[in-house]
Amino acid sequence: MKAAYIDRYSNINDVQLGEQPIPVLAENDVLIKVHAVSINPLDLRVLEGEFKAILPVKFPFILGNDFAGVVAQVGSNVTQFKVGDEVYAKTDLNGAFAEYTIVQQSSLALKPQNISMEHAASLPLVSLTAWQALVEIAKLRSGQKVLIHAGSGGVGSIAIQLAKHLGATVATTTSGKNTRWVRELGADIIIDYKIMDFEQELKDYDVVLDTQGGKTLE
Ligand SMILES: NC(=O)c1ccc[n+]([C@@H]2O[C@H](COP(=O)([O-])OP(=O)(O)OC[C@H]3O[C@@H](n4cnc5c(N)ncnc54)[C@H](OP(=O)(O)O)[C@@H]3O)[C@@H](O)[C@H]2O)c1
Repeated sequence: MKAAYIDRYSNINDVQLGEQPIPVLAENDVLIKVHAVSINPLDLRVLEGEFKAILPVKFPFILGNDFAGVVAQVGSNVTQFKVGDEVYAKTDLNGAFAEYTIVQQSSLALKPQNISMEHAASLPLVSLTAWQALVEIAKLRSGQKVLIHAGSGGVGSIAIQLAKHLGATVATTTSGKNTRWVRELGADIIIDYKIMDFEQELKDYDVVLDTQGGKTLE
């Protein structure tokens, strides 16, 4: 199968496009014919070796986390999916930037029928991140106030919608060009970080989701 892979930690110019074997299924795995993928900052960090202490890889390593596609084969213990199902996921075993990938059935979900493969492939990692931060860690509740930095970004745009769904009041930082869009996503208070200081504008917030780090976090 065709795949985008690396032979060593390196940079974007050294990504190889070539043939790799189709991954072999274990009993709890599902083989998927990939239709769409999305690219996240994590992909670049893995490529550059920044995460090798916590996410070590074996070379050649196929890149990519987020994908949507169609089930091509299922392992002998797989009960929740069948060949032909449209699915999406963040990979847990093999890279997604390839014609085929495998995941354990516990990591896979049916693709909602009302969104395209491309839309579905853009969702897993940013949504899991927003869920982990707001639901599992912050335990955001209805009536609380949350500041979501970079509301126009991948993580931020999902976090705004999730926070509104949970019943929170949402403030977000964005540049002026994206103000209208984050309002449409549900943000109540919008700070243009290029011309305003969020720390002067907001106070008494219950939760802050910061993906910027550095001076913003400080
Ligand atoms: N993608 C993931 O699944 C994921 C998971 C975990 C962690 N992260 C981390 O989260 C960060 C953002 O990732 P992402 O995928 O959401 O990135 P992204 O889609 O590239 O979005 C980055 C956003 O940052 C905004 N921004 C830039 N400077 C800002 C500032 N000073 N204050 C507020 N917003 C600012 C930009 O907004 P404007 O265009 O409006 O200026 C842009 O929309 C990265 O550091 C990434 O490593 C990402």
